Amino acid sequence: MSAPKKLFIKTYGCQMNVYDSERMAEALGGQGYEETKSADDADMILMNTCHIREKAAEKVYSELGRFKKLKAKNPDLKIGVAGCVAQAEGEEIMRRQPIVDLVVGPQSYHRLPEMESKAREGKKVLDTDFPEEDKFEKLKSRPKAKRGPAAFLTVQEGCDKFCAFCVVPYTRGAEVSRPADRILREAQDLVERGVREITLLGQNVNAYHGAGATGDVTLAQLIWELNKVDGLERIRFTTSHPNDMQDDLIEALGSCAKLMPYLHLPVQAGSDKILKRMNRSHTAESYLRLIERIREARPDILISGDFIVGFPEETEEDFQATLDLVEEVRYGTAYSFKYSTRPGTPAAERPLVDPAEADERLQRLQALLTRQQREIQDSMVGREVGVLLEKPGRFDGQMVGKSDYLHAVHVADCDRPVGDLARVRIVSSGTNSLGGVLI
Ligand code: 5AD
Ligand code: SF4
Repeated sequence: MSAPKKLFIKTYGCQMNVYDSERMAEALGGQGYEETKSADDADMILMNTCHIREKAAEKVYSELGRFKKLKAKNPDLKIGVAGCVAQAEGEEIMRRQPIVDLVVGPQSYHRLPEMESKAREGKKVLDTDFPEEDKFEKLKSRPKAKRGPAAFLTVQEGCDKFCAFCVVPYTRGAEVSRPADRILREAQDLVERGVREITLLGQNVNAYHGAGATGDVTLAQLIWELNKVDGLERIRFTTSHPNDMQDDLIEALGSCAKLMPYLHLPVQAGSDKILKRMNRSHTAESYLRLIERIREARPDILISGDFIVGFPEETEEDFQATLDLVEEVRYGTAYSFKYSTRPGTPAAERPLVDPAEADERLQRLQALLTRQQREIQDSMVGREVGVLLEKPGRFDGQMVGKSDYLHAVHVADCDRPVGDLARVRIVSSGTNSLGGVLI
């Protein structure tokens, strides 16, 4: 047998891309590829790209510029672009950067092995279709390779919400849920390979409505099924939309033992005028009432969010409404972005806020969010939490893992192995992590 060819994958953007990159590596494993951590000795480089904000795509082009030198040294090197930039500007990539051999959109990853063969024959290949066949079935992993204790599992893909700023409905396509039995089988397989925590992924994960034995299954029903899987200790899900937060999911957050007390629930803005223009179809008030109901079900839940500042025509007063909403919610973590125009989206036609003004608002929002995040993190000191141990820390005897609330925790004098769900008392709070000791 010939030596394995080396595959270097660079992943940008969201967790779904991380999941997709794993599937692509497995699919190309069948073509004799093994993953490498360095681009320098690769036989194939795949960039799994993100198109959600402007700079993401620009980074891809500048990185491709650097790979040009590698290709000059090794003409057999094949270079591919996958992900949402591939979907959005496939042909443009081929034109702008002739070193690219293949371009593959997120719905065509199962066709990668075939595409790789064509690229090896010296052809340029581009596939940005939305094919009918079941990508996930065809991307099934080679069983039993051992893996780390925390894994992602895509249950739903695409989005039908069409927020006015967002490219996802165009790059990932219409909302599709995978059948429940396939997800349960994949979860079982992950657990057999050492996984203890599964994060269910979807652009609109709580809109999940996959086929079950007796009709469609909600996300909560799927979670209750996963709760029965022996050896699986923790379940998470992301990203949710406020309008799809059904009662049974809120109840599950309160009562399902393995479901973790963490919810990423983006609101984007606090002004009803802006929310309307964003086509979010919820108000600040309805979001706040929703948070209230979720906290009634699970009082200790940590809420996380996404925000966009400087959306077209956002005034200082609108922005103030965002700050007010943040004050009221108290976020445990949050991601905030300056609005960036995405060509082809409805908001792209509207007048921009002065960029300096938008920068200044972003700083003010981030200062508030950082303060809240730190306060909530500090309030963990003295509490007992579960920590799933993921790897050894920098110091002797130290292990690092994630708490139930997704805080990184450094556990001192820890004699437990990776994959253990330890009970830990939090004793300190640093800039980005907590310190703890075994109970
Ligand atoms: N500009 C800025 N931020 C955006 N997001 C999505 N599209 C844009 C855009 N055009 C943010 C939203 C979303 C997160 C994944 O990225 O906050 O929830
Ligand atoms: Fe984009 Fe809105 Fe869909 Fe989220 S809900 S993926 S922001 S269109």
